[in-house]
Amino acid sequence: MRTPLIAGNWKMHMTGTAAAELVAELLETELNTGAQVLICPPFTALAAVEEVLEDAPVHLGAQNMHWEEQGAYTGEISPAMLVDAGCEYVILGHSERRQLFGETDEGVARKAAAAFAHRLIPVICCGETEAQRDAGETAAHIRSQVTAAVRGLSAADAAQAVIAYEPIWAIGTGKTATTEQAQEVCRLIREVLAEVQNEEVAQAVRILYGGSVKPANIAALMAQPDIDGALVGGASLTATDFAGIVNYGEEA
Ligand code: PGA
Repeated sequence: MRTPLIAGNWKMHMTGTAAAELVAELLETELNTGAQVLICPPFTALAAVEEVLEDAPVHLGAQNMHWEEQGAYTGEISPAMLVDAGCEYVILGHSERRQLFGETDEGVARKAAAAFAHRLIPVICCGETEAQRDAGETAAHIRSQVTAAVRGLSAADAAQAVIAYEPIWAIGTGKTATTEQAQEVCRLIREVLAEVQNEEVAQAVRILYGGSVKPANIAALMAQPDIDGALVGGASLTATDFAGIVNYGEEA
């Protein structure tokens, strides 16, 4: 059985003080769900969030990292630094990193391997542009992104990975993929995992949907057989909205 995972990607929002307030507010809300909850604040707010979380059942993650251990890489953050800051997860290859900061499939694969070497669980993102979808290239694009990210991992590591399917045209646009579109691609991701790794890995990996997830659409997404959770951007910045997504069972 895959444990559902609801992850908040705060992107470049929240100072340390604002982050601590938001998490405190979130912890005051009743999070009655069987899902694991993960929040991914910006680097500079990790310590403040970690302090408020203490032993709360909310996991901490970062939004990016470098694959090297340490060295002359001005402005970069290493996996060991994230572990030191209390992170258990790290988002890798988000489309904003790929589109705005030139991240490649090869870089994402190196980062995924480095994450596991430091016992961080990567949340590996993939997703097509609107033009790719319109041109009928969605499946080929997702197949190549997922293959590149997981083919170099051991089966034991790959089984623990999280993959987030985020159609780029649905991110921050208010346009959500239909549940059928989301399920179709998430099923394809599981097929690719079975081909590149094996069936056991494919059944173990948690696959999230991301792109304009809200309290109103989460229940239908979670009802899909291959969707194990959500990666939430905008709606994770408000405690009531994020709690409404985490408590998706109540919306059903
Ligand atoms: P959104 O972002 O929920 O604001 O669409 C999702 C993401 O980019 O992870």
